[in-house]
Amino acid sequence: MQTQIIRWQHYTNISALSHAARDTILQCAEQAIAERGQFLIVLAGGSTPRPIYELMREAQADWSKWHIYYNDDRCLSQDHAERNSLMAEQTWLGHVAIPANQIHAIPAELGAVPGAKAYAETLAGVGEFDLVLLGLGEDGHTASLFPRELWKNESGDVTLAVTNAPKPPAERITLSASRLSATRKVLFLVSGASKQQAVDDWRAGKSIPASAIKPENGVDVYYSDVNL
Ligand code: 6PG
Repeated sequence: MQTQIIRWQHYTNISALSHAARDTILQCAEQAIAERGQFLIVLAGGSTPRPIYELMREAQADWSKWHIYYNDDRCLSQDHAERNSLMAEQTWLGHVAIPANQIHAIPAELGAVPGAKAYAETLAGVGEFDLVLLGLGEDGHTASLFPRELWKNESGDVTLAVTNAPKPPAERITLSASRLSATRKVLFLVSGASKQQAVDDWRAGKSIPASAIKPENGVDVYYSDVNL
């Protein structure tokens, strides 16, 4: 079983973390576009990424080469305030010139099972991502891979339908740990004292969903307001 390589980078607060994450995203994009003519990024949901996406809105980039995916979304209507895709659209994507057909929201409004199937078809022709952004939940979850759920996905599925998530709403769609690991770079965004226990468990080598994300190049964790 491959060991997860983790590089921890501390920031004094969420603003410093957000500015650093913005810079890292833009650097990754520039390198990917120079080397392969496109940049495939997978966005995180929840609240931590919001200030980062707001900074991205003002960034200068060759948006025509960007392809946007999501690591998870909630099974709610497309215009529901709790949709991860709506948050990204409102804070960032709706304000920059990424071609609409290069923004691949998860069709979570279809429901967990049909939506997961549809998104797996969307990803069928997609190779390794360039950058995956991930959050960390207080229980060690990431994307919508929750402890005690089916996150120990060994069946090679690309997407998973989640119907009893402990973090509301219960019904979600998530990329699997293996698909989230098929990327050149992973950047976890962790902020807030409420994540301390999850970070402690992670560093103690406990088996939490975040520790199942094992890209070849390891993972980077930008963190603030927690202690190592
Ligand atoms: C979701 C997210 C989830 C999130 C973590 C951290 O849809 O809820 O994908 O995995 O990243 O729960 O959330 P915060 O950034 O809000 O703490």
